[in-house]
Amino acid sequence: MKIGLLGFGVVGRGVYDLTAERSDMQVAKVVCLEEISLPDAEVTKDYPSVLADKSIDTIIEAMGGLHPAYEFVRAAIEAGKNVVTSNKALVATFYDELIPLAKEKGVQFRCTAAVGGGIGWLSELERARRMQTVEQVGGIMNGTCNYILDSMTRLGLGYDEALSQAQALGYAEANPATDVDGIDTWHKLILSSNIAFGVSVDSATVPVAGIRHIAAEDVCNFKEHGYVCKLVSTGIMENGKLSAFVQPTLFPQGEPEAAVNTNYNLITLVGSASGRMSFYGQGAGRYPTAYNVVQDCADVLLGKGFYSPYGGKVCADNSLTRRFYVRGDRDAWLEENKQEAWGNALVTKPVAVDALHRWLKDHPGTFIAALPNE
Ligand code: HSE
Repeated sequence: MKIGLLGFGVVGRGVYDLTAERSDMQVAKVVCLEEISLPDAEVTKDYPSVLADKSIDTIIEAMGGLHPAYEFVRAAIEAGKNVVTSNKALVATFYDELIPLAKEKGVQFRCTAAVGGGIGWLSELERARRMQTVEQVGGIMNGTCNYILDSMTRLGLGYDEALSQAQALGYAEANPATDVDGIDTWHKLILSSNIAFGVSVDSATVPVAGIRHIAAEDVCNFKEHGYVCKLVSTGIMENGKLSAFVQPTLFPQGEPEAAVNTNYNLITLVGSASGRMSFYGQGAGRYPTAYNVVQDCADVLLGKGFYSPYGGKVCADNSLTRRFYVRGDRDAWLEENKQEAWGNALVTKPVAVDALHRWLKDHPGTFIAALPNE
């Protein structure tokens, strides 16, 4: 396999290193805007020349972001090249276009590193669904948020201090919005649900609440009631109805999720035959992520293309109910649904997930967390 590598940042450099000693795949050209030189690959700013190079059969996209990653990946597929990417925003956003296009052009398209970094999550979902009905997917999919929440819970840090530490360690970006507002987890849930259930989820119907407004007093309230807060994605397919949402969620101490420390991920599927299977590991970072990118290249060499049949558009119906912890704004609707007080916050009676998220849209400074399903 001859590879054209797009990007030489955290992931790109890792891919270059992990393929360096291999005889079955070689990074032949690297598209990079910085002035670097590499012993075993040509570095260029000229992507069209890479596309035109007939000896390159596979493009690895490790640039991140939507543009120009989308244009570059689309052009690669059009040019008849296989594509491997770790870019969850790209695949979740352009799923309806890129997956059918790869099929039409007869090329392989894989993105295992897009969810769970170095965890073999999407590749195991692929194996899971050929044997059984996958009923549920989700879990802790964002290392940055887990690091912040864990630092607040175990070390007693405030939100700002925990975020600064995550930034100093290189987990969180200077602008942390994509992580702390749950967008990264949302992309990962949409992609996992598409593959697990063989559908194309309408992202506009998947609500998301992040951790930006959590405060030390929330963590105290949770501890007092024996809970640990995690940012969690949930995708459930039951009788043809999809529930899909991202929200802070409380776990009783002693549950596996409650014990996930620092920046680790814990992602779970529930299958009709296997029951619960959970996958724990590094969801980000140079070599974990590059590991799954190179695994995908090895699968492409074996002729293994995309994970599941491309399915039709599905809207989430989040009428299922949960009790919610809410601290911040109050109004008549919330008071009507109040069950008990936790410090300055309240806990609702069971309310529909979509109703609570609709309410939250009008009260954007408020922090919410779902209580465990009873
Ligand atoms: N920002 C992401 C995280 C990177 O913290 O998990 C991996 O997708």
